[in-house]
Amino acid sequence: MTELTEKKNVPQHVAVIMDGNGRWAEKNGVSRLAGHNAGMLAMKEIVKRADVMGIKYLTVYAFSTENWKRSQEEVGGIFNLLVKFVGSELAELHKQNVRVRILGDYSQVPKAAVNSVEKALKTTDSNDGLQFNIALNYGGRQEILRAVQNISARVQAGDLAPSDITEDMISAALYTGEENGSMPDPDLIIRTSGEERLSNFLLWQCAYSELAFTDSLWPDFTPDEFEEMVIAFGSRSRRFGGR
Ligand code: IPE
Ligand code: IPE
Ligand code: MG
Repeated sequence: MTELTEKKNVPQHVAVIMDGNGRWAEKNGVSRLAGHNAGMLAMKEIVKRADVMGIKYLTVYAFSTENWKRSQEEVGGIFNLLVKFVGSELAELHKQNVRVRILGDYSQVPKAAVNSVEKALKTTDSNDGLQFNIALNYGGRQEILRAVQNISARVQAGDLAPSDITEDMISAALYTGEENGSMPDPDLIIRTSGEERLSNFLLWQCAYSELAFTDSLWPDFTPDEFEEMVIAFGSRSRRFGGR
């Protein structure tokens, strides 16, 4: 635990919208893919710091259901980077007792990336340190739709009456639910690059999340800035509708 974090209120679940790789690339006169590569290096450092700080769940938004609109070259390049990340980092993550989970329909991503993801899931499955969730081909509306379809099937089968559907059942049917260890909703959602929107991220789970924004472009976002934002969050008063 670092000095800043010691004795402070560390949230259980922090989620990050890693935005600004493209603008960072433009600013530095390099290709968008070089920007994504720099972003991956930044992500590596944030995972390490989250672990040191004692955060239990770190969720990163790596690829949205809307990101398929980008050029084939960029999309392919992002998934190649994921393969590269798993190749170079999996042993270290495993050593750190990190459990990797995927939020999203990763069956639709390129085969090499599916293979890497499955290897990461399998290797780290029984670890019980930091849970590192990668939101990959993730969309909040798609996630809710899928939950509705699953619950509807139970209703149709006669196992459940519509009036018996609860909020907890909906939470359980999301990617963050039973299939990935029923994690708490994010206490804090950080977005970099100065944009202040959710872009279809964790729409159900964000009901009471604190939101924090920074102008830093994702590749420039440092573990120290991350830690400062998380600690600043710890002193906010969360009322959950009470007084
Ligand atoms: C975020 O950076 C990474 C992904 C969406 C995959 P962007 O690529 O969106 O960067 P900007 O927003 O164009 O700067
Ligand atoms: C959100 O960033 C998705 C990820 C960080 C993976 P985008 O760059 O895709 O979001 P918009 O298009 O600015 O809303
Ligand atoms: Mg962006």
